[in-house]
Amino acid sequence: MKSWQAVTASNLVCGVGISMIWMMLGAWNATKSEDDFTDRERKKILSLSPVPPTPSDPTNQYADVPKAAHFRQFLFFDPRMSGLGKVSCATCHDPQRTFTDGKALVEGEGIALRNSPTLLNTTQLRWFFWDGRADTLWSQALEPIENEREMNSDRVHVVRLVGSDPELRVAYESIFGEWPDALVEPNLPDHARPVMDEPNHPLNLAWLAMPESQREAVTRVFVNVGKAIDANERRLRGGPSDFDRYVKALRSGAANAETHLPESALQGLALFIGKANCRFCHHGPMLSDGEFHNTEAPPNPDVKTVDTGRYEGVKKLLHSPFNASGKYSDAPRHTNLRQGAELWGQFKTPSLRNVALTAPYMHQGQYASLHVVIRFYSTREDAIPNGHHQEQILLPLNLSHTEIDALVDFLESLTEEPPALSLRTAPGSPRLSKDSD
Ligand code: HEC
Ligand code: HEC
Repeated sequence: MKSWQAVTASNLVCGVGISMIWMMLGAWNATKSEDDFTDRERKKILSLSPVPPTPSDPTNQYADVPKAAHFRQFLFFDPRMSGLGKVSCATCHDPQRTFTDGKALVEGEGIALRNSPTLLNTTQLRWFFWDGRADTLWSQALEPIENEREMNSDRVHVVRLVGSDPELRVAYESIFGEWPDALVEPNLPDHARPVMDEPNHPLNLAWLAMPESQREAVTRVFVNVGKAIDANERRLRGGPSDFDRYVKALRSGAANAETHLPESALQGLALFIGKANCRFCHHGPMLSDGEFHNTEAPPNPDVKTVDTGRYEGVKKLLHSPFNASGKYSDAPRHTNLRQGAELWGQFKTPSLRNVALTAPYMHQGQYASLHVVIRFYSTREDAIPNGHHQEQILLPLNLSHTEIDALVDFLESLTEEPPALSLRTAPGSPRLSKDSD
């Protein structure tokens, strides 16, 4: 790809003869074609699109059952699952805001200390949360429900809700079979859940007072609720973006593939796969390597605690009774997890699909706009040095304003068509209308 800056600058400084040649090159450049990219660049570009089909998930045998679609979607929008009955998954993953909430730090029944990621295309991810402390989508869904700062609820409360609402109960039974006898009121306390790090917490004491068989039955239903929510989330895929249309045309050898992207987005793409080194971490069709890195971005000043990211994330995943290798997984899967000091302060490389719609950015919403994010990568100003674990690739890029704008224009071309409206709105009832997708 030719550098536009080089062409313009040379036009200003060169003598007439040379300037003529540059102008001719400029004219050639103005009618951009895919020939502008070398074969190597083309290969890199093709690897960024399209998003592959939704993969199967053997750890959740209900992931693709075509039953009770409305039940699964209803749960996502149902605030009754939360402690005070005010917060649903959709509070922080609002379909009107591309399944985020637009805030730096999410607000549930308390203020949580991280930024809300979009739920589009999550089936393509290997790790969930910024620190990857969940390794399946169904186990991820269980956590916000019992997180005091998010839904501030507990598994017994959720089980009582599903068991006592006739519509939810029938829908539940149509997927998971008969309601367990052990879970019929009045045998259950109002609220109870295990609280690992606080044995004397009232919820933990209420939990330990329950018979073992009942605790197990409660947890099974709770896990099934997570598996039902997962089955809904699996359908949240975006349609093609302008960038996908461009790649499709490029792949098929269509003439004028570049008409799908504004010129500056093409220049941004060249920087992204070239001298700006973005592709080093943001690669593959999700524009993410799915792994963890420390970008050294300064934390959000509103967060007073140190967020160690992947360092704690690995430990939490290993200790989670709901991880993919555990007994609640329908196809236990073992993963070798790396541990060590180098994980300190690492966060998951986020997908860049739809990124123009999901401000603010980074794990604590530190940056208000894409311009600010890219300026940070370009200048590395305020970076918190990470000693000898520093990512060698993250050096000042000294990008010009035009180059920063071009990168932003490229990122904007990654905005996908939204999923069907029916997936973005709450069903009126968990059993309303058709019973399958
Ligand atoms: C109070 C706000 C809030 C609520 C309510 C909430 N979430 Fe989240 N969600 C977040 C935040 C913040 C994160 C990132 C948290 C982290 O990394 O620690 C997240 C992460 C996720 C992720 C991982 C995405 C990724 O890219 O790793 C999924 C999936 C998800 N939430 C689904 C749900 C579902 C399903 C519910 C309802 C059961 C729910 N969330 C309720 C705020 C919320
Ligand atoms: C060393 C790996 C690495 C490189 C290189 C890299 N990124 Fe990132 N990127 C990350 C990680 C990790 C995060 C999340 C950081 C955090 O939350 O603290 C991130 C976050 C972002 C975000 C915020 C997304 C969101 O949803 O919050 C954008 C935008 C972004 N990067 C774009 C770029 C661009 C453009 C480049 C090239 C100039 C680039 N990145 C280079 C790893 C990298």
